[in-house]
Amino acid sequence: MARRASRSRPRLVLASLNPGKARELASLLGDLPFEVVSLSTIPGAALPPEGDESYRANAIAKARAAVRAAGAIAMADDSGLEVDALGGRPGVHSARYGGPGLSDAERCAALLAQLKGAAPERRTARFRCVVALVAPDGREEVVEGAVEGVITDAPRGTGGFGYDPLFYYPPLGRTFAELDPSVKNGISHRARAVAAAREVLKRWVS
Ligand code: IMP
Repeated sequence: MARRASRSRPRLVLASLNPGKARELASLLGDLPFEVVSLSTIPGAALPPEGDESYRANAIAKARAAVRAAGAIAMADDSGLEVDALGGRPGVHSARYGGPGLSDAERCAALLAQLKGAAPERRTARFRCVVALVAPDGREEVVEGAVEGVITDAPRGTGGFGYDPLFYYPPLGRTFAELDPSVKNGISHRARAVAAAREVLKRWVS
């Protein structure tokens, strides 16, 4: 019964080879009338390298590659941290900020070094996530989500990943690394972008 229902649903391919991210995205989409699959289950599928231009260009390039590989609707995201005192950096370079081969902790240290002496009111920042949806018939839509916070002057908390220990979220009085994952996943830039993407997908299948 369940198998027959899943066969009649259109496929939605998540254009990420990161199993943790694919799982998180799949759980945010679980109740939609799609059979959600990860690109990693498609033999020979590959993603283009991320470029320097914009989150949008990176997300669209990944979603188009996944459509070509899978012949199904594809969803891809790209995200980063934008710090106002640094003119929006690291932004699209967030994953590579500070140099190649650094750990998350070393990237956080590099960011704090850049912000040394910056007053609290200049330490405002946001995580931004852009999600691209591309269909085999050529339809393309891009949506985004963001969450506002402040960069701390030292790491706090052990949860999450990336810049979470530096990202203080004023409404909860904690950094993202101090939040339970289910709480972070309810308010994050990615959750907000996926909420907008869900509306597009509902429209596409209605
Ligand atoms: P990507 O979208 O997976 O390419 O993420 C780009 C980079 O942005 C990551 O490597 C992290 O450094 C940073 N980033 C994106 N989302 C988060 C988050 O939720 N917490 C902490 N860092 C993040």
